[in-house]
Amino acid sequence: MKSSGGGGGARLLTAILFALHLRLAVGACPCQDPALCKPISSPRDFEVFVFDVGGKTWKNYNWSLITTVATFGKYDPELMCYAHSKGSRVVLKGDISVKKIIDPAIRAAWISQQVDLAKTQYMDGINIDIEQHINPFSAEYYALTALVKETTDAFHKEIPGSQVTFDVPWSPGCIDWRCYNYTGIADSCDFLFVMSYDEQSQVWSHCIARANAPFNQTLAGYDDYIFMGINQKKLVMGVPWYGYDYTCQNLSETHECTIQKIPFRGAPCSDAAGRQVPYKIIMSQVNSSLSGILWDEEQKAPYLEYKDSRDVFHQVWFDDPRSISQKAAYVKKHGLRGIGMWNADCLEYSGSFEMQQQTEAMWDALMPK
Ligand SMILES: *[C@@H]1O[C@H](CO)[C@@H](O)[C@H](O)[C@H]1NC(C)=O
Ligand SMILES: *[C@@H]1O[C@H](CO)[C@@H](O)[C@H](O)[C@H]1NC(C)=O
Ligand SMILES: *[C@@H]1O[C@H](CO)[C@@H](O)[C@H](O)[C@H]1NC(C)=O
Ligand SMILES: *[C@@H]1O[C@H](CO)[C@@H](O)[C@H](O)[C@H]1NC(C)=O
Ligand SMILES: *[C@@H]1O[C@H](CO)[C@@H](O)[C@H](O)[C@H]1NC(C)=O
Repeated sequence: MKSSGGGGGARLLTAILFALHLRLAVGACPCQDPALCKPISSPRDFEVFVFDVGGKTWKNYNWSLITTVATFGKYDPELMCYAHSKGSRVVLKGDISVKKIIDPAIRAAWISQQVDLAKTQYMDGINIDIEQHINPFSAEYYALTALVKETTDAFHKEIPGSQVTFDVPWSPGCIDWRCYNYTGIADSCDFLFVMSYDEQSQVWSHCIARANAPFNQTLAGYDDYIFMGINQKKLVMGVPWYGYDYTCQNLSETHECTIQKIPFRGAPCSDAAGRQVPYKIIMSQVNSSLSGILWDEEQKAPYLEYKDSRDVFHQVWFDDPRSISQKAAYVKKHGLRGIGMWNADCLEYSGSFEMQQQTEAMWDALMPK
């Protein structure tokens, strides 16, 4: 009796603590104006989808353009309140092992956890970023489509007007062995964010440094998504605000930079031989480079060359307002849902007047002319 009575008391105490915890978690809106904790449900037509990777530089983003911020850094309530005050959505990052999601119970538990997290943080949806290897028609292949559908259904039901999106590679052709059911996934969510970068992750021809997102290769990816039956309004173009710095084994006079052979998911060489660098770092190297900014007409991309302290040549490929605006023109011409970038924290928001102009030009290049 005694011990069971004690257990009852402990259970009651647990229940009270749990209720208090819920009240604190869901109850306390961190914004000065409690109205800012309401989800954003009537967004603008043209999507500008931004990835934030943490820190406070978000204060200097061009908020007049942004419709959604996917927060891949630590949750920042101040960012949520600010974004809502600008009519922009804030969404979670979602990732889970594709081995686990074969079990429907694990999927359901994961989804309910994500919905609860979004609710307690007053967020407006989730961006699912699963970049894992999946074989076509495997158990994981079917489970992934189911995961996206079930997540979308749960979010739309629990947070009316919320947004569920999924990140896909630059082409639907089993890139990096991501052989997903792209049409099924597109049907099951609000839209796909197409990661039109890292396009040299699998290089099958000779191993030289190339553009991160060559013009033709990028647009061919969208043509392929549309050709397979995905509505253009389900596609948001993702452009890179970072580039790749390659160490050249040899740099020829025709600007061919031979790179180390590093295989990736079956291909003999890869951009894994390079190092990812934010746009702001690349811009700070221009004056001390050997070449200044060069332009490759075939790939419609800028690059530069420099010699490091060990006297070794480097070639750096990147995107700038010129290359981005040419891609953005496709968004308008083909009626895509919008545009976005990885990631907004690659720009310099506190430098000289000249640097701030460069930053503004990068935001401006997103808007198709
Ligand atoms: C893709 O998913 C959809 C929706 O679940 C399904 O109807 C379709 O048969 C799948 N397609 C392939 C090729 O697996
Ligand atoms: C290496 O670069 C030099 C200088 O441009 C060039 O003359 C030579 O042919 C290149 N060697 C190879 C193996 O590409
Ligand atoms: C690079 O050089 C230009 C022209 O001389 C100058 O206006 C600019 O301030 C320099 N930029 C940096 C980052 O040093
Ligand atoms: C790019 O695509 C256009 C149109 O399809 C074609 O005319 C052009 O030759 C291509 N350029 C390269 C470098 O592949
Ligand atoms: C934000 O972008 C808009 C549209 O491109 C532009 O008119 C405005 O000047 C930009 N604001 C800032 C602070 O750069």
